[in-house]
This record gives sequence, structure tokens and C-alpha cells, in this order.
Amino acid sequence: MDTVTTPAVLILLGPPGAGKGTQARMLEERFGLIQLSTGDLLRAAVAAGTPAGLAAKTVMEAGGLVSDEIVLAILQDRMAEPDVTAGVILDGFPRTAGQAAALDALLAASGQKVTAAVSLDVDDEAMIARVAGRFTCAACGEGYHDSFKQPAVAGCCDKCGGVAFKRRADDTAETARARLDAYHAQTAPLIAHYRGMGVLRSVDAMDSIDTVASALGSIVEDVSA
Ligand code: AP5
Repeated sequence: MDTVTTPAVLILLGPPGAGKGTQARMLEERFGLIQLSTGDLLRAAVAAGTPAGLAAKTVMEAGGLVSDEIVLAILQDRMAEPDVTAGVILDGFPRTAGQAAALDALLAASGQKVTAAVSLDVDDEAMIARVAGRFTCAACGEGYHDSFKQPAVAGCCDKCGGVAFKRRADDTAETARARLDAYHAQTAPLIAHYRGMGVLRSVDAMDSIDTVASALGSIVEDVSA
């Protein structure tokens, strides 16, 4: 594992299918940073049937954004856990101006700030295809795709050997379009916020998974040296 000398707070910004989750897991393995995915945290709340999960379920199924109140409560709980001191990759958060302001305030309270916000630049139509073909290992969560990333041995997870796979309920072409619309309306404006803070980086996320990973790895090394 490569080590970072300064714990980073790295944000991955990008529409559904841009590769935020794929890349966050790779950075986690390579640098020991912790992936914090608000999508994963919300899906766990839905599966557990918590009040937050019940409130989020319908919104997620329609491809809209869950309220800032619910998302911030879930994220703050996770940020309070001790492992995050190693540095974090925020995957799918922040997604609104309110979430970005709340994150800046949360970090400032402990003398921290966003180290880098990376915009994963992609083509909208390609994103629909990526999302609609996605599946994951039911045991370890490793991500795959019908066209772009099949397991090396069909039906067997490369990472853990699991043989059961699952698809997300919101990974239909119709819902992906609604999620894309929400991204452009509410999340893409954050690119200007982070440019203004002087921490914005961009990566061409239409490149292969390994090429994108290499570009992101260079950014992590650069900002945490
Ligand atoms: P979330 O789970 O965050 O979904 P998303 O942002 O729509 O992003 P995805 O997980 O669909 O895509 P990704 O960018 O991670 O791509 P991936 O790496 O999987 O959120 C789900 C819902 O929760 C939201 O719609 C909302 O309702 C709610 N929510 C979550 N956070 C919220 C917040 N902060 N505020 C409010 N609501 C919130 O890659 C996709 C596929 O493409 C994979 O199969 C992968 O193998 C493949 N792939 C990846 N990279 C490449 C590449 N370079 N080339 C070819 N294939 C690739």
C-alpha cells in the first residue's frame, strides 16, 4: 500500500456512472483512505428500515436527491468514527450547495478543509449505458459491468470468490436519466464552488478505469505530499 503523509479530504464529483464508487474503492486499497459513500450509507439505512431509510427510499427510487437534513445526519455520524482520521474519499457527497457549506463548516470545526475536489468529466449518454449495465458482488460489493468489466471467471467474484451478484433498484435507464438531471441541476454548480476555493481538479473519466485510477493516484500523491 502507498502511504500518504497528510490525511486528505478528497471529494469525487461526477454524475451517476462517472466511476466515483469504482475509483474510491481503488484509492481506498492503494492509499488506505476511507471511502464514504452517502449512497451506500443511505442504501444501508433503507435495508435496515430506519426512519431515515424509510424517508429516503421513495426519493432514491425516483432518482431524486434525499433531503440535506437526512444526508447530513448520516454523514456526520460516519465522520465521527475513528477510522476517518486516516483521510477520506467522499463519494457522492456533497451534492447540493447546502451540503457543501455544511461540510466546509464541519471540517473547519476541527481545523481541516477540503484537500481536493475532483470533477470526473464524462459524456451523459455513456453514463446511462454504464449505470444500466452495472452489477456488484453480493458478498463484498466489488463492482462489475455487463460490457466493461466482467469477472475474470464468469459467475465468480474476482475479489472474494462470491457467486451471488445483485443490481441496484435505481439502475434503470429511466431512473438514471432522472439522477443525471438532478446532478446537472444541483450538484454540477459545486464545481464553481471548489474552483473558487482553489482545490478543483479535473480528470477525463471517459478513459479506462486504470487510466482514471492512475490520474487520481497522482492527484492524491500531489495533495498529500
Ligand atoms: P449514489 O449511490 O451515490 O449513486 P450515483 O451518484 O448515481 O452514482 P453511481 O453509484 O450510480 O455511479 P458511480 O459514479 O459511483 O459509478 P460506478 O463506479 O458505480 O446515490 C444513489 C442515490 O442516493 C441518489 O440518486 C440519491 O437519491 C441518494 N443520494 C446519495 N448521496 C446523496 C446526497 N449526498 N444527497 C442527496 N441524496 C443522495 O461505475 C458505474 C459502472 O461503470 C460500473 O459498472 C463500473 O464498472 C463502470 N465504470 C466505471 N468507470 C468506468 C470507466 N472508466 N470505463 C468504463 N466503465 C466504467
